[in-house]
Amino acid sequence: MSTEYVLIEQSSPLKGTVSLTGAKNAVSPIMASLLLTSGKNKLTNVPFSDDVRLMIKLLESLGAEVKADESLHTLEIDTSHIKSQSIGPDIMKKMRASILVMGPLLARFGFVEVALPGGCVLGARPIDYHLKAFAKMGVKIEAKGEYLTASAQKMHPTHCVLEYPSVGATENIMMAAVLTPGTTRITNAAFEPEVLDLIEVLKKMGAHIATFPPATIEIEGVTTLQPVEHHIMYDRLEAGSLLLAAAITGGEIHLPEAPAASMDVFLAKLEEMGHQLSYGDKGTGVALKATDSPKAVSFRTMPYPGFPTDLQAPMMAALCLASGKSFVDETVFENRLMHVRELQKMGAQIEMHGHTATIMGVDKLFGAAVIAPDIRASCALILAGLVAEGQTTMTGTHHLKRGYAGLLEKLQALGGKAQLLHE
Ligand code: EPU
Repeated sequence: MSTEYVLIEQSSPLKGTVSLTGAKNAVSPIMASLLLTSGKNKLTNVPFSDDVRLMIKLLESLGAEVKADESLHTLEIDTSHIKSQSIGPDIMKKMRASILVMGPLLARFGFVEVALPGGCVLGARPIDYHLKAFAKMGVKIEAKGEYLTASAQKMHPTHCVLEYPSVGATENIMMAAVLTPGTTRITNAAFEPEVLDLIEVLKKMGAHIATFPPATIEIEGVTTLQPVEHHIMYDRLEAGSLLLAAAITGGEIHLPEAPAASMDVFLAKLEEMGHQLSYGDKGTGVALKATDSPKAVSFRTMPYPGFPTDLQAPMMAALCLASGKSFVDETVFENRLMHVRELQKMGAQIEMHGHTATIMGVDKLFGAAVIAPDIRASCALILAGLVAEGQTTMTGTHHLKRGYAGLLEKLQALGGKAQLLHE
C-alpha cells in the first residue's frame, strides 16, 4: 500500500493575495440543518474537504439527492425524499460532526439512530450536553449495542443551561428547537461566527431565533421550514493559517475576504509579535507584512471571542521562532497539544506542564519526518516545514484533507514549497 505524505521544503518568504474558501466549521452544521426542510436547497462557497464529501455520503445515505460541483464550489441538496434516520459506524466513527444530524432528524421525524462516535459512551463526554438537552426536550434516549436511539412522540420547549458554551451542542439544540412549538432558551450558548452563520441559514428557512447578550439564544418553534440558498461564510481559521504562513516565512499576504471583525484576539496577538497588519473596510480583509524579528507572545484558548483553539497549533509553530518565552494554555480540549512532540522533532524548544506549553524561541528549525496527529496540527507542521532547514515529510495527511480544501495549492501560489506525494 502506498504511503501518502506532504513534502515541505524551506521556502522563500510567502508573498501574494489569496482567496479564501468557505468555513469548514460552518458547512457541516449547515449541511445537517438542510434535513429540517423538504425540497431543493443550494449552498455556494462550499469548501470541498474530505469532511464535506463524507457529509454528502451521510445525507445521501438518508435519502437526500445531492449534486456537487467542486469547481464551482456548489452543492444542491434535495431533501424531499428522506427515507432513513439511521447513521452507521462507518460514517459516525470518521467524523464527529455527523452527530449534528440528530437535532434536525429528531425535529422533523421524531426519531434518529446513530452509531456512537468514536470512543464515546452514553451520557459521558463528549456529547453529554447534546443528549441532556434532548432528554429535557422530552426525547427518550437509549443505547443499544454500538447504537444510540433517540425518539420523541412530541418534543417540548425547554430552558437549556449549558455548563460550557459548546459549539456542537448549541447547534444541535437550536436545530431541534426550530421545529418544536414554544420557546426554547439556550443559556451560556456558543457564539462562534460559524454558529451565527447557521442561525442565518435557519432564519432564511423561516425559523424564529433571537440572540441576547452575553450568551442567550431564544428559539420560537414553527411548524415548517422552507428550503434555502446560502453562501457559506469565509473561513476565519484558514485565514489565520495563511496569515501565519506569511508571518513565519517573513513574507507579505493580503486576504481580501478575511472576516477580520471576528478574528480580533488572534490578530492582536500577531500585532503583539511585531507583525504589521492593515484592514479592509467594514471588518473584511486583512493584509500582513511580517516582522523580521518576531517576539514571543502568550495566550490561552477560549470560546469565541477568545483566542480560537483551532489556531493554537499553527500559532505555536510561529512562536517556535519568536524571540523570548511564550506560554500557550489550551483550555478548550483536553488533548490538543500533540503537535508539541512533532515540533520538538524539528528542533523546537517546548516544555509541557499539563495543558500549558512553554515555548523558548530558537533561531532555526530543522526538517524532520513528522506525523500529523489532528487537523490543525497538520497545518502547524506544514508551516514549520516552510522555514525549517532542509526537507520535512509529514504523514497523517488524512487530517489535512479532512479539514482544509486546497491549503497546499494556496501555499504554492504564494511561493511555498509543499506538495502531496505518494511513495
Ligand atoms: N464537550 C463536552 N460535552 C459535550 C460537548 C462538548 O464535554 O456534549 C466539551 C468538549 O469535549 C470540548 C469542549 O466541550 O472540551 C468544547 O467542545 P465543542 O462542543 O465546543 O466543540 P465541537 O462542537 O465538538 C467545534 C469545531 C471544532 C472546534 C470547536 C471549538 C466543528 C465541526 N468542530 O467542535 O473544530 O475546535 O468547535 O471551537 O464545528 C477543527 O476545526 O479542527 C475542530 C476540531
